[in-house]
Amino acid sequence: MSKHTIVLIPGDGIGPEVTKATKRVLDAAGLSVEWVELPAGAAALEQGYDNVLPERTVAAIRAHKVALKGPVTTPVGKGFKSVNVQLRQKLELYAAVRPVRSLNGVKTRYDGVDMVIVRENTEGLYTGIENVIAKGVVTTMKVATEVACTRIAKYAFAYARSRHRRKVTVFHKANIMKLTDGLFLDCARRVHAQEFPDVVYDELIIDAGCMKLVQDPTKLDVLLMENLYGDLVSDLCAGLVGGLGVVPGSNIGEDCAVFEAVHGSAPDIAGKGVANPLALIMSAVMMLNYIGEATIAERIKGAYNAILSDGRAETLTRDLGGTAGTTQFTDALIAKLK
Ligand code: NAI
Repeated sequence: MSKHTIVLIPGDGIGPEVTKATKRVLDAAGLSVEWVELPAGAAALEQGYDNVLPERTVAAIRAHKVALKGPVTTPVGKGFKSVNVQLRQKLELYAAVRPVRSLNGVKTRYDGVDMVIVRENTEGLYTGIENVIAKGVVTTMKVATEVACTRIAKYAFAYARSRHRRKVTVFHKANIMKLTDGLFLDCARRVHAQEFPDVVYDELIIDAGCMKLVQDPTKLDVLLMENLYGDLVSDLCAGLVGGLGVVPGSNIGEDCAVFEAVHGSAPDIAGKGVANPLALIMSAVMMLNYIGEATIAERIKGAYNAILSDGRAETLTRDLGGTAGTTQFTDALIAKLK
């Protein structure tokens, strides 16, 4: 097995706890890897960098092509621009791919949920172009380009086809944002008609889409949407399958990819040793498949599925109704590796 070089960004809040747990699992499962650990966010400033997203961190991801990332806190209403948004824009990680699946042993309202959110990751309202127009009047600019809308639509349809999925549904608000969401929709329709007529295509105005999601998520499959909608709907969908502790994610570009959980830095539980590392471990499984280590990926999947199916309180974290801390859960997972 060849040795991989992977950039590791521990992040902050629960980030260092869940990245440490994930590294332990990858090591125990036999991944041959050299970690290049570099900071982002407040951690970068603490380590003496003059920037929350040091060029060294970005350059390392460009060079090594793959990163595993813990969450990074973004100040609310003031302070620096989101490191996550900057990273996705700088590296053109244009597709956020977030599988949302029911897990055996995790009790939720629905069984058989199996969706994948494909979120446009580089534009929309996340361009961060905000202006004070007059005293008491501010604006945010939503940007949609034909290039980016077409690129993400192609990604979603190609993903659906290659994985034998039933259908791609676009969530939009083109009844109100006729130009921006209208362009998103036009691009999706054109890509479907010209290149993917074999994939079933559907559209939902996002408000109705959210209602359908909570009524019966098993009716939905691949969900394609612009940046903000993808952000919001990801957490909504996480709530359908057991919460943010069990939903992984990846940010995919042409040249490189950054794997991270959907959840944030969870300041309310940071430093307490109770965070569920499973979402990042599942993101690492996606990373293993991406770098061609499917056997190790299956080994880890088998181990966490066994723990969830056992359903023993002492080996489940609190968000899943158990009593285990991050370390106990990780120890139990490693013990189950075959
Ligand atoms: P959050 O996802 O950090 O937390 C929401 C709720 O879920 C909290 O109650 C938290 O304790 C719980 N939770 C999240 N992950 C968990 C885990 N692994 N195990 C157990 N419980 C977990 O969202 P919030 O509070 O809105 O954001 C906190 C910070 O994280 C903000 O600064 C935000 O900007 C940042 N953030 C960063 C992301 C990233 O780096 N990719 C993604 C989302 C938010």
